[in-house]
Amino acid sequence: MLSFLSSASRNSAHFIITLFDKVIFSNHTAIIQKKEYHHSNPIYFSIQSMNSSSWRSYYESNRLNRPEPGWQLPCHVPDDLRKVIALSLSHFQLGETGGGTFLLCEAARETDADDLAALTLFVREEQEHARLLARMVQRLGGALICRHWTHRLFKLARRAGGFRFEIQMLLTAEIVGTAYYELVNAGTNDTPLNDALGLMLRDEARHVAFHLDRLRLRWKTYLPFERALWSLQFQALVLLAVRIAWLDHGRCLRVLGHTWADFATRARQVAIDFLDGLNTRTLSCRGCRTETTKIENALT
Ligand SMILES: [Fe+2]
Ligand SMILES: [Fe+2]
Repeated sequence: MLSFLSSASRNSAHFIITLFDKVIFSNHTAIIQKKEYHHSNPIYFSIQSMNSSSWRSYYESNRLNRPEPGWQLPCHVPDDLRKVIALSLSHFQLGETGGGTFLLCEAARETDADDLAALTLFVREEQEHARLLARMVQRLGGALICRHWTHRLFKLARRAGGFRFEIQMLLTAEIVGTAYYELVNAGTNDTPLNDALGLMLRDEARHVAFHLDRLRLRWKTYLPFERALWSLQFQALVLLAVRIAWLDHGRCLRVLGHTWADFATRARQVAIDFLDGLNTRTLSCRGCRTETTKIENALT
């Protein structure tokens, strides 16, 4: 019975999301997938081409600029905090794992080679986060986990809505993750932990900017009411994800001296910056200014 309900709810979710995506956004989806359109519109083509190749270059260079935290240094986190932080980090560690097979297979059907390469490197960067988080958990004496209800829920929702919804779920995770890593970083005083969190925060800011640039290409083709609809469902998703994350990580963040208001305010601000970025002339939100400047200079 439970599996029937689960399957029924999965099918309903998929139906609603597919309907939303296919019916409301069908016209410009077709336009974007037509390669001729790129060639017939030099502005669109140049933005997409530069954008994706620029992001590919960014991800390639970012792999070479990753100082490894000094894991051998003595740990200064108080004993009573280690267990609770390690448990919370282990849940995020599980969330950062994954080969991105579904995402990359779906992306291969509708994007260019540079964008696909950038997406592949983005997935690898998330896997690198999983490695750093695993080192952090081990440093605090915790254990890695293989399953958790939040991970299952996240995975189910990602698959239910198809490729674009999966990207949107990843974006939501970036927003929640940014707020979480910032607060954990602010609440701990341990050099290797802070260095690892600093690295991940630097990456996550660029990941949000990456998703922003990718969505902006589609955003240009949306009518005002379509933008309003997308924005509405995205905000609802973010608010839900922030609530769920607090359920799971609230104890850890409270122990580190933060409140629900701290967490929610920070996550909401990242989401607000993202939505503002969709409607501004710049191609990226804050956190990726170097890459943005290159693109902006070429456009003016
Ligand atoms: Fe990450
Ligand atoms: Fe990320």
